Amino acid sequence: MTTSPFNPSNQDSHRDTANTTALPDRLQRNAQVTGEDVLYQFANGFKLKTETLRKQNKWRILPLGSPQGSLMNHVLNFPEIARDKRVFEPFSGSGPLGFTALRVGASHVDFLDINPRAAEFHQANASLNQFSPNRFTSITGNIADFTPEHKYHLILANPPFVPTPDDIDGAVTSDGGPEGNRFVNFLLERLEMFLEPSGKALIYAFQVVKDDHPLITQQLVKILQNRPVEITPAQAKSSSFEAFCEGYRTLFPNDTSAIAN
Ligand SMILES: C[S@@+](CC[C@H](N)C(=O)[O-])C[C@H]1O[C@@H](n2cnc3c(N)ncnc32)[C@H](O)[C@@H]1O
Repeated sequence: MTTSPFNPSNQDSHRDTANTTALPDRLQRNAQVTGEDVLYQFANGFKLKTETLRKQNKWRILPLGSPQGSLMNHVLNFPEIARDKRVFEPFSGSGPLGFTALRVGASHVDFLDINPRAAEFHQANASLNQFSPNRFTSITGNIADFTPEHKYHLILANPPFVPTPDDIDGAVTSDGGPEGNRFVNFLLERLEMFLEPSGKALIYAFQVVKDDHPLITQQLVKILQNRPVEITPAQAKSSSFEAFCEGYRTLFPNDTSAIAN
């Protein structure tokens, strides 16, 4: 994970991102796979139960990858962003981000996921880590209808962000709409309803870069005029758009015309 200043009123400032340093890895995780279940154990004693990518079920629970790992490591490196805070983890799946926040002392976490199975994983992961049930709430619901009871100090989000043409029936865990930013935009447009004025939102998103700018830049400039914004590159080198489309053609051989558009 790296950091760099980004000022949405100056679209060129994200070019500063070359001058960045990686955070120490405080996760050091081991994964134990049993059938379709995965149990992660971390250096600090934290544990997390998920499922494997192989699981064939619309409502599967994702294993950990770089998005969750980057955000968890950020919270472990900067625990003060979560300590004593009310935290919201939309798109929570098994709840890796919110439970990491509880681990470093968050006062309460609201988890939200459209997947009805997510709540079972929250119960299991709370028990594995001996978190009291009154420190978290599992909400099964659609981010589009969700109205919080109060604003949060911290939002940790790993939304579905894979650019997916409308004609392709994408997975509920990954389909971010044609440009990949459907849910990121959703969060940004509702940020003032969710977030305290002094609050922070850490959102991990894959970005298509057009004319040298991540696509989300336009939304940031339009929507977040009164909040400071940083864009932090999590990948040292970007991939070519053609390589991305090629991967898609391999995954969806029957949808090549939708991908071409
Ligand atoms: C990229 S996955 C993130 C999973 C989570 N970070 C984890 O490690 O398990 C996106 C999650 O968003 C959820 N999701 C998709 N559409 C949603 C919606 N409209 N409202 C709420 N959650 C949604 C999916 O069920 C999935 O768990």
